[in-house]
Amino acid sequence: MAEKKVRVGLIGLGSISYAHEAGYSEMGEVCEIVALCDINEEEINNRIGMYEGAKGYAHYHDLLANSQVDMVDITVPHVLHYEIAKAALNQGKHVLVEKPITVKSEQGEELIALAEQKGLKFSVAENTHFVTAYLKAEEILKQGILGDIWTVRTLIAGSEVYRIKDPNLWHGKAPFGGVILDSSVHNFYLFKWLFGGVRDVLGFASKLVPEGEVEDNGLILGHLSNGAEFQLNTSCTFEIPWIERVEIYGSKGGMIIDQLANPVVKYYLGSGDIDGTVVEGVPFDPMAWKFNSMIAEVRDFVMAVIEDRPPRVDSADALYALKAVEAVEKSIKLKRVVTL
Ligand SMILES: NC(=O)c1ccc[n+]([C@@H]2O[C@H](COP(=O)([O-])OP(=O)(O)OC[C@H]3O[C@@H](n4cnc5c(N)ncnc54)[C@H](O)[C@@H]3O)[C@@H](O)[C@H]2O)c1
Repeated sequence: MAEKKVRVGLIGLGSISYAHEAGYSEMGEVCEIVALCDINEEEINNRIGMYEGAKGYAHYHDLLANSQVDMVDITVPHVLHYEIAKAALNQGKHVLVEKPITVKSEQGEELIALAEQKGLKFSVAENTHFVTAYLKAEEILKQGILGDIWTVRTLIAGSEVYRIKDPNLWHGKAPFGGVILDSSVHNFYLFKWLFGGVRDVLGFASKLVPEGEVEDNGLILGHLSNGAEFQLNTSCTFEIPWIERVEIYGSKGGMIIDQLANPVVKYYLGSGDIDGTVVEGVPFDPMAWKFNSMIAEVRDFVMAVIEDRPPRVDSADALYALKAVEAVEKSIKLKRVVTL
């Protein structure tokens, strides 16, 4: 047990903050939520009663001025990540910020350098690294079961249509970016982690929901660092439960990961391997797989602060994912392949 509990301030009390909050609540023996901030005071009032002695703030500057706070967890709209994370690091707080790290890569670079200079932990809540199916995939790839990797296809999709149509919400509004920034950072992070990154990209974007100001569908083609082809589809207009599907094909076999399939992970060794091999230890749980990965990411960050070790998600890899998105945005604008 830690000598002193890590004291956490939550900044942003919207939808994803509930998963983060659950992570801290499960770790009551080593951390405690001592401060909450949101511009919507109703959110503060709804939740503050759960934390004895916790303070509520309508402005993040006031939360950051609270010397009782050791770390902040930032779950506000993307465009505010940079400003709030920078202010927090300057106040000497460890920072866990939701993805994308920032909306411009120069801002992400600045935050990484600032955290380094201040000797503070700074990581991005990239839950991808805590998804059981991807951890199993990493093991299988390391064992070389699939041979040399030749082709990778990913799909990350769900529906945000009701949020895009709501004029009071930020989703689908131009300053915040579209689905490519919002979702494909997860896939580019995965590509960096499992395959070393991407070499080039060709992007296409479309907007199907008239009320939206930015793309709600993206198709990205390109090559991974080892020369393998990849195809990445991302959408927030699919009227299905949120899905992440990854197909990896190599010289010896192929593996399919699909959070809406049961079993979730299966690999096949050759065209005659009709039955394939089910990868055990990956529960079929379309409702909770993502939530559980977020709880694990929060746990890892708190333990990194306590143990004074790097968090599992290196913020440089989250920055890499953002740089890949910027290459895609450039490709869409120039209508040509862009090399990273
Ligand atoms: N890792 C994932 O899979 C995942 C999933 C969903 C969202 N996210 C990320 O989490 C972030 C938040 O998304 P969300 O869906 O929870 O959004 P949301 O709109 O539901 O919540 C955002 C909250 O921030 C508050 N807020 C806005 N400006 C603020 C300010 N200046 N100070 C304090 N609070 C402020 C809003 O009032 C709101 O309560 C986004 O960056 C998003 O990309 C990540």
